[in-house]
Amino acid sequence: MQCSWKAVILLALASIAIQYTAIRTLTSKPFQLCPLPSPQNCGLGGQETEPPFERGTAGGGGCDDYPYFSINATRKTHILVLATTRSGSSFVGQLLNQHQEVFYLFEPLYHVQTTLIPRLSHSRNAADRRVMLGASRDLLRSLYGCDLYFLESYIKPAPTNHTTDKLFRRGASRALCQQPVCDAFGPADVNVEEGDCVKKCATLNMTLATEACREKRHVAIKIVRVPEIGDLRALVEDPRLNIKVIQLVRDPRGILSSRIETFRDTYRLWRIWRATGRRPYNLDLSQLTVVCQDFLSSVSTGLTHPYWLKGKYMLVRYEDLAKNPLLKTKEIYDFLGLPMDKNVEDWIHANTRGSNEPSAKHKFGTVRDSAANAESWRLKLSFDMVEYTQTVCQKVLHQLGYKAVKSVEELKNMSLSLVQDKTFVPFL
Ligand SMILES: *[C@@H]1O[C@H](CO)[C@@H](O)[C@H](O)[C@H]1NC(C)=O
Ligand SMILES: *[C@@H]1O[C@H](CO)[C@@H](O)[C@H](O)[C@H]1NC(C)=O
Ligand SMILES: *[C@@H]1O[C@H](CO)[C@@H](O)[C@H](O)[C@H]1NC(C)=O
Ligand SMILES: *[C@@H]1O[C@H](CO)[C@@H](O)[C@H](O)[C@H]1NC(C)=O
Repeated sequence: MQCSWKAVILLALASIAIQYTAIRTLTSKPFQLCPLPSPQNCGLGGQETEPPFERGTAGGGGCDDYPYFSINATRKTHILVLATTRSGSSFVGQLLNQHQEVFYLFEPLYHVQTTLIPRLSHSRNAADRRVMLGASRDLLRSLYGCDLYFLESYIKPAPTNHTTDKLFRRGASRALCQQPVCDAFGPADVNVEEGDCVKKCATLNMTLATEACREKRHVAIKIVRVPEIGDLRALVEDPRLNIKVIQLVRDPRGILSSRIETFRDTYRLWRIWRATGRRPYNLDLSQLTVVCQDFLSSVSTGLTHPYWLKGKYMLVRYEDLAKNPLLKTKEIYDFLGLPMDKNVEDWIHANTRGSNEPSAKHKFGTVRDSAANAESWRLKLSFDMVEYTQTVCQKVLHQLGYKAVKSVEELKNMSLSLVQDKTFVPFL
């Protein structure tokens, strides 16, 4: 039988769609719609056909069980860190994770991707993307409502009796490493290492995790698998949520350099380019261009201040955070409308340059000499690669205030910063 590549792709897509549909029907069985608090928003999502909001199975009862639905000044803030890999998002995540009243999750969309598109992980195919985004928005909605059971359908192997030891980066979430979820550590253990948490805490009980989430006033989620802010519009506009998006950007030249160091397999050809000075003919340029396209569409959307982002969007440059972590973090908390607590401040002191403790564990790139570190890519990339990046990312470099260099001398002269002063005032 002939089997053309088109047929194979079609088949793959069909199977993804079927899996996703199956997961949805399985997990959101007892549909129950809560009345919309502000009806003028119904269906305003417009462009996107969004399924109506579904209640998770946990808890079961009426809508009144869910205080986060009520719209008033004291309701939960649903914080979303929109980032891309190697842009400093773990650091930003920690700034939220350390807050006593925040329940933090590190990239839950990992599970969506590995379940729905295990083979096509780099696919930019439009149909794939739609499926992935639809599933992602559903999952985020549920998680903001502290319905962690919803996540179980994406975890492999499937959790039994609502327990699992396969939650991606569980150790990055403070609340999941503390009582009552984990007895190994108490609230006094501040800097619990991610690995220690995974080692010492028993299997994760999702029921306890759900309770921990409900006890916190706010929920923060960091994601790197949604390309741009426009993809989140339906979520941002959902009147039952109170979303605040922190979009983290970084100089694409810095991202490229960091990825080359970190993702050694996927970025192998870039390393060859760097080592030989010659660009491999089969280099996957989309690994770079996609970052710039996504930033450009996001930032263009964000900076034109569409009404649906009013009060809900803040653009943060990683380099600014690296240069002045405390000040920038205060700005972030101001935007979120939350008081910054002492834990966060202590953590910044312990983990950034301000601290002179040699014992401080320097896990974050932002740590050592933060500001210089943010530009260390200049010593790692060849001028060719930099020049190429500047060509394909020209617009976004300009928009974000990253200066292009014209010569090797300029590139390697570190007394000259390539990060221009630029203020991105949150759209209030
Ligand atoms: C907000 O809602 C909560 C729970 O419904 C209620 O206890 C509180 O009094 C409300 N606050 C204001 C300012 O309306
Ligand atoms: C799940 O819980 C039930 C009832 O407590 C028990 O019989 C069963 O063995 C548990 N399953 C697993 C895989 O632990
Ligand atoms: C998980 O925690 C809940 C709540 O404390 C408890 O009822 C349940 O038995 C626990 N599950 C397991 C498998 O230990
Ligand atoms: C580096 O840049 C500074 C500031 O423009 C300049 O004064 C200096 O001469 C440059 N150094 C080299 C080695 O080019």
